Amino acid sequence: MKKKYLKWLIILLLMLIGIQCGNSSEQFTIWIGGSPRELDYWQQIITEFNKQTGYNLQLVRQPTYSDQRRQSLVIDLEAKQPNPDLFLMDVVWLNQFAASNWLQPLDKYVKDNDFQLHQFFQSILNSVDKYKGNLYALPVFLDVALLYYRKDLLEKFGYSEPPKTWSELLNEADKIQKIERKNNPNFYGFLWEGAQYEGLVCTFLEFTSSHGGGIMNNGKVDLYRKSNIEALQFMQDLIHKYKISPPSTYTEMKEEEVRLSFQRGNALFERNWTYAWKLHQSNGSPVKGKVGLTILPHFKGDSSVSTLGGWHIGISRYSDEKEKAWKFVKFITSFKSQKKLILNVGWNPSRKDVYKDKQVIAEAPQIKELYYVLKHTIARPTVPYYSQLSDIIQRYVNDCLSGKISPSTALQKMQNQIKEVEKIYGTE
Ligand code: GLC
Repeated sequence: MKKKYLKWLIILLLMLIGIQCGNSSEQFTIWIGGSPRELDYWQQIITEFNKQTGYNLQLVRQPTYSDQRRQSLVIDLEAKQPNPDLFLMDVVWLNQFAASNWLQPLDKYVKDNDFQLHQFFQSILNSVDKYKGNLYALPVFLDVALLYYRKDLLEKFGYSEPPKTWSELLNEADKIQKIERKNNPNFYGFLWEGAQYEGLVCTFLEFTSSHGGGIMNNGKVDLYRKSNIEALQFMQDLIHKYKISPPSTYTEMKEEEVRLSFQRGNALFERNWTYAWKLHQSNGSPVKGKVGLTILPHFKGDSSVSTLGGWHIGISRYSDEKEKAWKFVKFITSFKSQKKLILNVGWNPSRKDVYKDKQVIAEAPQIKELYYVLKHTIARPTVPYYSQLSDIIQRYVNDCLSGKISPSTALQKMQNQIKEVEKIYGTE
């Protein structure tokens, strides 16, 4: 009798263990895009998380660029699919994703005693991650646009520091390009993102805002103004008149194309995001040890600005694995992980405590400059019709860069078309 009882007890125990294992090994997914090197690093992080927890989180690799990443997510979220459970969102999608009810509110999870919400920048949480009072996401990294420069070349030509104004950049680039071309016919003074994609909205915002213009003015879209016409003219001139930026600027230059060309030694200046730093410094990079980074220049009499970029993590409202998904959110936004991210891939931490860490300051000294630039960022508009607004800006700025239309026509057309979109959304 006793034996029989023991047998049943063992069976019951085995069943319980089985259920436990079954639960924890149930697969759930996170969708992330980016450059191949970044994705390889994500895989490492996720493998480590699975090892620690016994979970089975799978990385689904998305395309490199923001626009395509958004499209692929939207299709599944609109169809209320339980997959993906987790995903990264570009800072500019948050408003629309939350308004569409695709995101699981995180408020109940962050009440966890050991979750340190106070370590995140309040202004970012309020302006990006919260919608109508609820918290829908947390920043994984805060991106900023930077000016990368070849320290060695500036020194060789007698410049002790990087340019502060766009006209200084133009003069230095023009002079150095002429001479460097003799050895390297592919050499250009300044590479930046001008292809028709989300990154072009960012560069447009930087050129115009560093001339006192911009996309918005007193809460309204205000594109057709003198400062914007002049700034856009300057962007066009960099390619066609001064020729310090290649014609491929408007056909193919997105961040990876810009980074690769600069990294091969084909440029003096580069406008790019934080991720480029670690890659420029990696083993085998022809520009390793020759690069500096600083805030973008400004027009004379105005101030420098950098577009606030960055990627935030959220849990799908349709996920069947919300508790486990939250464990990953907690893991990736922890001090330990955030420190690893700046040290290994150079992403600007989303937590304040990492900026003060001694090891980080010693091993990633660029963090000081990143923090400074972060204080000079400008956000893209947070309007529910952002993706339409972005499409319109991308199309006409790109047409103007190609030389098809003048800056004034481009800005006038953008303004008119955005007015039409605003009418549909009832915000005019
Ligand atoms: C970077 C930024 C993101 C921006 C994108 C544009 O990934 O972090 O905010 O939208 O570049 O290409």
